[in-house]
Amino acid sequence: MTKVGVIGTGYVGLTLACLADYNNEIIFVGRSQDKIVNLKNGILPIFEKGLDEVVVRNLKRNLIDATTDYRRLDDTEIIFVCVGTPSADDGSIELSQIKSAAESLGNLLKQSGDYKTIVVKSTVVPGTTKDVVMPILEKYSGKKAGRDFGLCMNPEFLREGEGVYDFINPDKVVIGGYDEKSSSILMKLYGFYKKEVPRIVTNLNTAEMIKYAQNAMLASRISFINEIANVCEKFGVDVYEVSHAMGLDSRIGPKFLNAGAGFGGSCFPKDVKALLATAKSAGIRSILLEAILEVNKTQPYRMVDLAKETLGRIGGKTIAILGLAFKADTDDMREASSVPIINALLKEGASIKVYDPQAMENAKKIFGNSITYCSSKEECIAQADLSMFITDWAEFKKFDLTKIKSPIIDGRRVFNPSVVLQHGLVYKGIGWKNN
Ligand code: UGA
Repeated sequence: MTKVGVIGTGYVGLTLACLADYNNEIIFVGRSQDKIVNLKNGILPIFEKGLDEVVVRNLKRNLIDATTDYRRLDDTEIIFVCVGTPSADDGSIELSQIKSAAESLGNLLKQSGDYKTIVVKSTVVPGTTKDVVMPILEKYSGKKAGRDFGLCMNPEFLREGEGVYDFINPDKVVIGGYDEKSSSILMKLYGFYKKEVPRIVTNLNTAEMIKYAQNAMLASRISFINEIANVCEKFGVDVYEVSHAMGLDSRIGPKFLNAGAGFGGSCFPKDVKALLATAKSAGIRSILLEAILEVNKTQPYRMVDLAKETLGRIGGKTIAILGLAFKADTDDMREASSVPIINALLKEGASIKVYDPQAMENAKKIFGNSITYCSSKEECIAQADLSMFITDWAEFKKFDLTKIKSPIIDGRRVFNPSVVLQHGLVYKGIGWKNN
């Protein structure tokens, strides 16, 4: 059993609760007293499938605790830094939380007699752990990394909504170590993974870069297929038929080729921007990274164009929006495509009704009383002139099409277009033969 500290109680930090299932003891450190009290009672600040059960189960086993006081980390051996690294105005990442955590950890290391390994898990651009975090730790502790304490960078590849599954079943584990001892301590903690799971042990900068390169690659596939989708529409070609065939080429593979209303979330947009800013600061102009973002910025408006093509004038019409979260199985609306779409429709003078199985509370914070909130998908489509699907929730896929009377605009290929057309409904969608 290892005593593990976790700083930060967002998606990344909280998912480390899974370590308790492997008999490690976890103590979370957060800034908000309310969140910490809730966490101690098994109430999480986020919706993440299956995670509340992991937390509750291990609270009962006394393997999870939470505090606002860094000093409680004194008897931990490994401390993960999982604080936010939001986008600054120029696209680079904002490091104030990570700097403040490093300062507090430096003070802790100063007091503590035991050897501890600090692990940066927040997504940070190459050079951050070595050139920003390490000097702060050394300054405030008066100790030396690699001699008096360990230092690692350990990126996460968790998908929101599938975080627990991805934590338990990773494709790989990447450990960037300042020195061999640091890496081997973290490697030991991950000893519970099957031996078939590849372990990549590398240096700090490389571990940081792997995370960004991977997210940028995935985002580029989405922007690529979205651009192809827009061309397909003009030639009566179904992009899903194209991507299916492309994906059968073993060099390409099928994943992340679903065309839609654009990618969102707290990761892809932020990470591509940060990588672009990092390249720029190194004197490199990345035309490809710029294009990934540019395509993604315009893609949601393709939905608005389809609405116009269907209804003619949008002003005065009632439009049902089904799906607000940036993807299914989360309540997260950060950078969600639904936001620019709704704003554009409102600007055109449409009345908007919305429904999402999880994101209604977050939507209220964004749109206030400028839109109507419905308590079911059926209520949402009732009397609507148009129904727009922006998130591919499972419950939408099972929609009883006989209940829908309005034309459908499908932003995530929620439906099989042929089935919708068989029901006598008007169907338009991203990458579908709309003309
Ligand atoms: C992403 C990565 O998939 C994770 O591996 C990574 O750890 C995480 O970012 C992170 O950096 O922390 P996430 O943002 O949770 O995970 O969501 P994804 O499932 O990757 O989807 C991102 C967006 O892309 C969603 O808006 C989704 O609708 C869109 N998408 C995804 C498409 O438009 N088409 C696709 O084929 C796949």
